[in-house]
Amino acid sequence: MNTKAPDYRLIGKPTRRIDGREVVTGRATYTQDIKLKDMLIGKILRSPHAAAEVVSIDLAPALALPGVFAALKLAEGKVRYAGQQVAAVAAVDERTAEKALSRIKVEYKTLPYVVDWEKARDASAPQVRDGKGNVEKFNEYSRGDVEKGFAEADVVVERTYRTAFEIHNPAETHGSVAYWEGDHLVVYDSTQNIHGVRDGLARTLKVPAANVTVIKKYMGGGFGSKLGLNEHTVAAANLARETRRPVKILLSRRDNAVCVGYRPSSLQTYKVGAKKDGSLTAFSLVNYASGGVGAGDEVSEPVVDIYKCPNCKVEEFTVFTNTGASRATRAPGHTQGALGLEGVMDELAAALEMDPLELRKKNYSTRNLGDTGLPYSTKGLDMCYELGAKAIGWERRNRKPGEGSGPVRRGIGVATSIWFGAGVPGTLADIVLYPDMSVEVVCGTQDLGTGTRTHMAVVAAETLGLEPKDITVKLGNSDYPWAPLSGGSLTTPSVAPAVRDAALKAVDRLKAVAAARLKVAADDVAMGDRKFFAKSAPEKTVVFADVYRDLRRETPFHGERTGYPGDAYAFNTFGAHFAEVDVNVETGRIRVLKHVAAHDSGQIINKLTAESQVVGAVTQGLSAGLFEERVMDDTTGNPVNPNLCDYKIATSLDIPEITPIFVDIVDTRLNNLGTKGLGEPPRIPSSAAIANAVYNAIGVHVREIPMTPQRVLAALKRKEAGS
Ligand code: MOS
Repeated sequence: MNTKAPDYRLIGKPTRRIDGREVVTGRATYTQDIKLKDMLIGKILRSPHAAAEVVSIDLAPALALPGVFAALKLAEGKVRYAGQQVAAVAAVDERTAEKALSRIKVEYKTLPYVVDWEKARDASAPQVRDGKGNVEKFNEYSRGDVEKGFAEADVVVERTYRTAFEIHNPAETHGSVAYWEGDHLVVYDSTQNIHGVRDGLARTLKVPAANVTVIKKYMGGGFGSKLGLNEHTVAAANLARETRRPVKILLSRRDNAVCVGYRPSSLQTYKVGAKKDGSLTAFSLVNYASGGVGAGDEVSEPVVDIYKCPNCKVEEFTVFTNTGASRATRAPGHTQGALGLEGVMDELAAALEMDPLELRKKNYSTRNLGDTGLPYSTKGLDMCYELGAKAIGWERRNRKPGEGSGPVRRGIGVATSIWFGAGVPGTLADIVLYPDMSVEVVCGTQDLGTGTRTHMAVVAAETLGLEPKDITVKLGNSDYPWAPLSGGSLTTPSVAPAVRDAALKAVDRLKAVAAARLKVAADDVAMGDRKFFAKSAPEKTVVFADVYRDLRRETPFHGERTGYPGDAYAFNTFGAHFAEVDVNVETGRIRVLKHVAAHDSGQIINKLTAESQVVGAVTQGLSAGLFEERVMDDTTGNPVNPNLCDYKIATSLDIPEITPIFVDIVDTRLNNLGTKGLGEPPRIPSSAAIANAVYNAIGVHVREIPMTPQRVLAALKRKEAGS
């Protein structure tokens, strides 16, 4: 397999977003912007109690208020977290809707609850699920014999790492606008999954999927919190059905922290054994994760996969609390797992007196499952290590963690990522050619904000010999050809190959039409600069405009993203991050100075938007590493920081120089462009590289994110005490 990137004109080069001007001038329409004639505003009443029996709900006082059109009961029996929906209203405007909510009379019988996930582990804690216990094993894995592996080791290190609850906080909060045209439901939704929301609505409302259309033109991010059908969307559809008017429900920033998910916490204990030369002999991991009334995340994939290690054992437990359910958050499980695994690798390197990068290279695997499974189809992690180390100046790091002196200590750290990103076979896209030479690309995908429109235009333009501005991109409507949800880093590797396939078919047809005009065989026709010519007689040409006109009507070409040999190879994305930090050992404050992010995501489609994915993900990783933590208050059962003031997110002042590097290894086994996903990979090792840089600076691993000044100072005390 040739893995070198072909010599493309547009693909892999930087292309500005075709919709950039619309977005920055405020002309792009988000769900929040939708205003329809006679539209009502819906609002949802939420439980203030973390656990209660709903004895009764009286909607009458709300319905009696002028301007209120409908009210619904949404809770029955028990509520299990503060923020759970109880009732909804639709009214002429926001103020009336608010007022109506305040008039609804709900009688609660409060029940004991627990929101502190460490207390929830106690056998005497209130039971979140009736009589089922708060701790449940949800994952186990084993290969080889770990006891034997540890017995063979020269060095064994055991450490515990902790990660916090992180809230997605997309710029645009969740929202839906629903209306009925007869028995057809139309919903504008801020979603990562138009087809999934359509199917979910059809099932929930018991209407045919063919009678539901979900539209999402633009959205202000999701990060996993908008992957599925939301309760408020169902409420909007029901209120619209009852009132026969459009109903809009927007969630508040507070709602964002209580009822649409967050990244689960984790408490990960790793034990690792190695020979003196650094070869790993055994890994074990015990993880506790909390996802409120939902499940936690598996954090074990990195330890199971990344390093060559014959013996590995994993046990993972979820801890239930009376808190809204977690949701997938940009690289679920992997960011938490990377923090722990990459931390213990560095602590092992120190115990072995080895270079942490050498330790990683020493245990490099070419097959998944720690070198015991399928061969990776392509794996450019070695190049990521090499180019990243060079870009950060790896030789400048402290040879021994914490060997510097003075109040401000500098350090450099590395961390690794593995992720999926193969895309979904069966994704469909159409190219439509018009006689006036306009070209349309249609796909029922959605642009999360990552630049999907531009990717589609770039691939179509490249293939058709046009420029991105020549292409009209249509997406964000569930009536368009099927594409999967935008999550799991699968949009580009699903959609781009489907567009490529359709465009290649269109080119074949255009060549056949040109051949008739040129009076040569179709396989003698080549594409030039907006013209076709005969290879055998290059002076014979026909311009694109004439060939398109010969089509005589709009002509669709159907493209499909085809399968890949999933049983013969493992298809993954890889990355290595390098961070440089200053740590003030008197104040505990960390400043990130530089962050290098090297990635193997196959063929890059648009260098510019790829770089923005990396910059965004590194920013989020820095933010999680240093600042972000949702804090629950056990005395009220509610979060204490459900807003953007008390929940700290990194700002531009915190962001260092970020250097994205792409190794561009084209995986032609995977799809017709050799492209893999990129949205999540750069989020995975970003906090971990910073944590390891801090370790390199101060000589003690903080082992907990966010690495607040208090935690840094506590770690330094631990070092003084010699533990
Ligand atoms: Mo992602 S967490 O699959 O949007």
